[in-house]
This record gives sequence, C-alpha cells and structure tokens, in this order.
Amino acid sequence: MDLDLTDEQRLIQETAREFVDREIVPRARDSDRAARFDRELAASLGEMGYLGAPVAEEYGGRSLDYTSYGLIVEEVGRGDSSMRTVVSVQTSLVCGSIERWGTEDQKRHWLPRLCSGEALGCFGLTEPDTGSDAASVRTRAERVDGGWRLSGQKMWISLGNQAELALIFAQTDPEAKHKGLACFLVPTATKGFASQEIHGKLGLRASDTASIALDEVEVADDALLGDVGDGFKIAMTALDAGRYSVAAGCVGICEGCVQASVSYATERRQFGVPIATFQLVQELIADMVVKRDAARLLVRRAGILKDQAKPNTTETSIAKLFATEAAVECANAAIQVHGGSGYVDDHPVERYLRDARVTTLYEGTSQIHKLIIGRDATGINAMTPLRAGES
Ligand code: CAA
Repeated sequence: MDLDLTDEQRLIQETAREFVDREIVPRARDSDRAARFDRELAASLGEMGYLGAPVAEEYGGRSLDYTSYGLIVEEVGRGDSSMRTVVSVQTSLVCGSIERWGTEDQKRHWLPRLCSGEALGCFGLTEPDTGSDAASVRTRAERVDGGWRLSGQKMWISLGNQAELALIFAQTDPEAKHKGLACFLVPTATKGFASQEIHGKLGLRASDTASIALDEVEVADDALLGDVGDGFKIAMTALDAGRYSVAAGCVGICEGCVQASVSYATERRQFGVPIATFQLVQELIADMVVKRDAARLLVRRAGILKDQAKPNTTETSIAKLFATEAAVECANAAIQVHGGSGYVDDHPVERYLRDARVTTLYEGTSQIHKLIIGRDATGINAMTPLRAGES
C-alpha cells in the first residue's frame, strides 16, 4: 500500500485546510449555538467542488480519487461535523448512488445541480421501525398507471428539510423481503411529501435532521433508480461510500482534538509550568495521537481499495468502527486536558464530543460493524439470532 500523497493530493489537502480555517471554523460555534443550518456555507462547499468530488467531471463533479475525497472530508470534519454531514450525505449517499445506478437522463438531470450545491439531496432509508435491520423497510411502493405511489415514514434523515431531492427506499413486494426493495428519486416538492425538523439533538445541532412523511406521493416510472429489487444493494453500496466519509470526518475530529489539546496544554500553566509538562497530560495527548494515526491509516487503506475498485466492505467497516470510536474517545480526553475550559464552547472540544457521539450510531452502529467484521472473519452470520428449526 503506497501511503505517500501525490503532489496533487497534497494541494487538494492544503486548499481544503485553508478553506475550512477561513470559512468553516469561524462560523462553527455560532451555528451550533443557534442550531442553524448554514445553507450559504453549504453552497460554498458546492462552489469549492466539495459536494461531489469523486463524481465524473462530465456530470459536474471533479473526478477525484477516493483518497483525495477523504482528505477533503477530514478537513471539513475538523472544522465542523455538521458541514461534514452535508458533504458526506450529498457526495457519498446521494450523488454516488445516482452516478452508479442512474440512467443517463437521471445523471444529467440531477448530478450537475447536486455537485454545484444548487440542489441538496437526502437519503431516505431509515424509518421509525427500521434502523439496523435495513431490509425491513415498511414504506410501500405500489404500481399505478405510468409510475408508482409511495406511502410511509422516514426518520433521522440528514438534510431532509433542506433537500430538493430525496432518495426514497420503499418495498414493492413485502413477501420478497430485501429483494423487493426499490429506490426512487423523489423531488421533495412533490405533492404528499412532508418533512419535519427533529429538535433537541445532543450534537450536530447545525445539521438539518428530519422525519419525513410520504402520503401517497406519486412519481413517474423514470423516478426509479436501478431496477425493482435493486434497492437493498443500492443502499448497501451507498453506505459503503458513506461510512468511508463518516470515518474520514472522524479522523478530522481526532486531529482537531490533538491540535486543541497541544495548544491548550502548552499555554495553560499550573504549579508554575505548562500543563504539557505533566506526564499524565502527555499520556492523554499521546493516546489521542495514536488513535488519530491509526484511524487515518485505516481510512487511507479503505480509500486506496476503493480507488483500485477492489472489494472493501469489511475494510470500510473497520475504518468506520475504529475512527468513530476514536473520535469519541479523543474528544472526551481532549475535554480532560482542557479541564473546566473544555466544558464550555470557548474551545471546540465539547462540540467535538457532542458531534462525534452520533457517528457510532448512524450509517451502521458500532455493533453492526463488529458483526460485519466478525462475519467476514469467521464465515458465520451472527446478525440475527437463529429461530427454532433454523440452522
Ligand atoms: N454491497 C453490495 N451488496 C451488499 C452489501 C454491500 N456492502 N452488503 C450486503 N449486500 C447484499 C448481499 O450480497 C445480499 O445479496 P443477495 O440477496 O443477492 O445474496 C443482500 O445484500 C443481503 O445481504 P445480507 O444478508 O448481508 O443482509 P442482512 O439483512 O443480513 O444485513 C446489514 C445486512 C449489514 C445488517 C445491513 O442491514 C446494515 O448495514 N444495516 C445497518 C443499516 C445502516 O447502516 N443504516 C444507516 C442509515 S442511513 C444514515 O444513517 C444516513 C443519514 O442520513 C446520516
């Protein structure tokens, strides 16, 4: 595995770092306090080419490799995970799915708008009763003349109130289980589509999170992404990309924790010396550095496999599991280094902790990732308990 960055990748990293320090970092605390989704900043991400970086240039993207995309996401994650969520959902879950599964017309219609930030997209998989068991989607898709009628509910949908386009996963044939799932490209202005903001979140307060109701939403045949029955595979391949993006964002949180902690510990004096002099403070920082580096290398490995078009589901799960848990641990330790100062939002570390917390839940809980990794290692599927009579 060649871990050296190319000159182009370094330039992309430096440009993203400067953009994040100039545009994202100064706004992060106020947006978090106000629980305000910054649509203007989301548009700036589009202008920078950060909302579809791996999408082919002919569809409005930048044709970047996954390693470069990961470097951008890491920087945005260091600045503000709410903005990182915009990049991850838009790029990996929405644009990636359309580019991979869409018809030429669907790609030409949606991708340029999404990549530029003119339109936002959301990923409607999760439901009130459908979380880890993604195959159990209850939203129904029924055939009508010339199209489909969708009815059901979606929950915890990032960008669901802001999006112009929703990818909606729906069941066409409950008997067929995951093989009956289909995915639809639904303009959110369609009659019967309604979203509601979810308030009171622990973190990602500046990110838009919605519940969605679909009340007999009618779409034409050309709204179907892929074929009937492709829905589960579309969701899983999208999540392979989305989880990589979440992991990269968490490396950014780890990096932010190290930077903030080193800066604080070398300035803050107690007992007549900077607190960085104390071995126990250094231990906290050293543990963060090790976790950051390990997470970064795991993300890099997953990115390289993606760039080589090799199977990477397990490696992506490993990166996502490790990086998200590392982000929570680093943020918690960073607060410890900051003492009382870390408990208020004068420093970014308390926001890092609140924002990191959801990453071990969404796009597959840590437990789901352990099961994916365990299944790959042992060849035994421990996802669901065996029922009587099953072997
Ligand atoms: N890529 C392609 N195909 C895949 C795949 C992948 N990564 N993973 C599974 N599949 C295919 C399998 O090959 C299989 O295909 P066949 O039927 O042709 O044999 C089919 O899908 C079923 O696979 P499994 O038997 O593995 O399915 P399962 O029901 O045992 O569960 C699971 C798999 C891993 C538990 C899955 O349901 C899962 O990942 N759950 C977590 C859901 C999740 O991450 N939700 C996040 C919601 S989105 C979100 O959070 C976004 C947001 O807004 C922030």
